[in-house]
Amino acid sequence: MCISSADHNITSFYALSLILHCSPSDDERITMPNTLQQIALVTGGGSRISVAFVKQIHRIGYSILIADLALHPSASAWIESLQPEASQRVVFFQLDVADWAQLEASFNRCVASFGCVPTLVVPGAGVFEPSSNSFWEDQDQDSRYKVFDINLNHPIKTTRIAVRKLVENNLQGTIIHISSIAAQRSSIITPLYTASKHALSSFIREMAPLAEIPGIRVVGVAPGSKKSPFSLPFDSNTFHSVVGSPLYEKREAAKFLDPERDYILPPEAVASAMMTLLRQLDEYEPGTVLLPRDRMAKGVSPRGFRAAGTG
Ligand SMILES: NC(=O)c1ccc[n+]([C@@H]2O[C@H](COP(=O)([O-])OP(=O)(O)OC[C@H]3O[C@@H](n4cnc5c(N)ncnc54)[C@H](O)[C@@H]3O)[C@@H](O)[C@H]2O)c1
Repeated sequence: MCISSADHNITSFYALSLILHCSPSDDERITMPNTLQQIALVTGGGSRISVAFVKQIHRIGYSILIADLALHPSASAWIESLQPEASQRVVFFQLDVADWAQLEASFNRCVASFGCVPTLVVPGAGVFEPSSNSFWEDQDQDSRYKVFDINLNHPIKTTRIAVRKLVENNLQGTIIHISSIAAQRSSIITPLYTASKHALSSFIREMAPLAEIPGIRVVGVAPGSKKSPFSLPFDSNTFHSVVGSPLYEKREAAKFLDPERDYILPPEAVASAMMTLLRQLDEYEPGTVLLPRDRMAKGVSPRGFRAAGTG
């Protein structure tokens, strides 16, 4: 038997309501993120991209729980520079995102600090493929890849907890992931990192129907350089010099970067793309994975972004 597109939508709608144990009325099917409960949970919020996003949502009134291993000194300095009322809206929670109990605890800490579960969740913590935990060094223990624990299991589990908490509290919300341009490419040098971002971008698209019920928008950005090491053809000479190295931190990385053409986006530009996803609901549908473009960094309209694909 064939199922038409409309039938399929109805089927998935009711299947989803059963899975989530919620049955909203027709009026509630197309929902908007709640604008009254401006509470955010941002993992990895102590550094670069995520702290740049924290600053932007703080400016528009959000209370934010930064969940990270530690705060970068520049993040600490920013918090210390805030006026008392403003600094009360930023709380640091130390955690290891690879530990699911600690992820759960971060949601509870949000409630304890701000009186409500977060309606904006950003699983921003991530690592490149580090030397000790790379595929090629093969040093991972406990039958698991640490890179996957941090870059893939953590954003997926954080999404699952967020959905449960929002449904329990009858709230709508937004979840913004940070994937990578690596999700559009392949690399024998950093296969774990690249595979984790491929899977994450797929997960973002898969979650698109959550916007229908229970009104949770799952979207993501996929930053990267205009032309990055991931895009280069395999070269055995350079391969041996970078295997196991965090590319952007090693001198060898210079071999892969062309200063004329390569351009790593500033964290603020990526954060602006995330703000666009948060606010421009009509333009960017649920399941969107955006590639922030270098032009955005120079202040060009968000319309300069290219969507990497949607659900
Ligand atoms: N910087 C780029 O050019 C770029 C490009 C593409 C994708 N990304 C992605 O953006 C995200 C953030 O990147 P960034 O450049 O801001 O990196 P960053 O290293 O500056 O920040 C990552 C944060 O995650 C935290 N973190 C790492 N492991 C953790 C753990 N186990 N528990 C808790 N916190 C942990 C770190 O402490 C740090 O604060 C990552 O997912 C990264 O893959 C970055």
